[in-house]
Amino acid sequence: MKLDVLFSPVQADELFFTGKTTVVIDVLRASSTIITALANGAKEVVPVGTIEFAVKVSGGIFGGQTLLGGERNAKKIEGFALGNSPFEYTKEIVNGKSIVFYSTNGSRAIVKAKYSANLYICSFNNLKAVAKQLKKLGEDVIILCSGSNNFFSLEDSVCAGMLVTELLNGNKKMELADSSNAASALFKSFGKNILKMLTESDHGQLLINNGFRDDLKACADLNSTEVIPVYSGNALKVLK
Ligand code: MLT
Repeated sequence: MKLDVLFSPVQADELFFTGKTTVVIDVLRASSTIITALANGAKEVVPVGTIEFAVKVSGGIFGGQTLLGGERNAKKIEGFALGNSPFEYTKEIVNGKSIVFYSTNGSRAIVKAKYSANLYICSFNNLKAVAKQLKKLGEDVIILCSGSNNFFSLEDSVCAGMLVTELLNGNKKMELADSSNAASALFKSFGKNILKMLTESDHGQLLINNGFRDDLKACADLNSTEVIPVYSGNALKVLK
């Protein structure tokens, strides 16, 4: 079982993912929000690559049970019901709903990896559960960090390193690419206090400046759920 980390979606094109087992990470905040939505009973989250497409697909094809969610520059998009704060995705609001979801980096990374044979979403919230599923599967894994506008992001890379470390735990057969060793070194340096790392990161600072400090706490909540979003039929659903 070989583990590879892509630190930005720009490192690969769509076809690269064909047939692969891929884990997409966008700690702040898309993957944490998607996990929260599904944990709170959303029927599915449909990730899309553009705002225009989000508006188009939400137009009634899901029988009126659709909500538009996501962000641009960390802020709710005009005309959307929900932004990208995990706190907005409560049981009362999302239960039974299909959520069409756009975000600057996260949803676009997921769409890019859509040809994967197995595509999972990971954050600190469900990291242990994702590691357990990957061990059960036993396939080579690509860990795709959503990054920030095609640049490196510390929080996604540290989360990738924690996933690598969790997968290595008691498994001598694991083969690490250079990128996995680098990610696990980042986790060793920055992973001791996740909230501090998120607070000091570039995107963490942007969110704090926009009034989302509490979102960082929610995104730092380690292993708070066993829900694993899995991509199937153009939508993310809870892995059974
Ligand atoms: C993204 O996909 O770029 C992020 O989730 C941005 C955010 O914090 O809302």
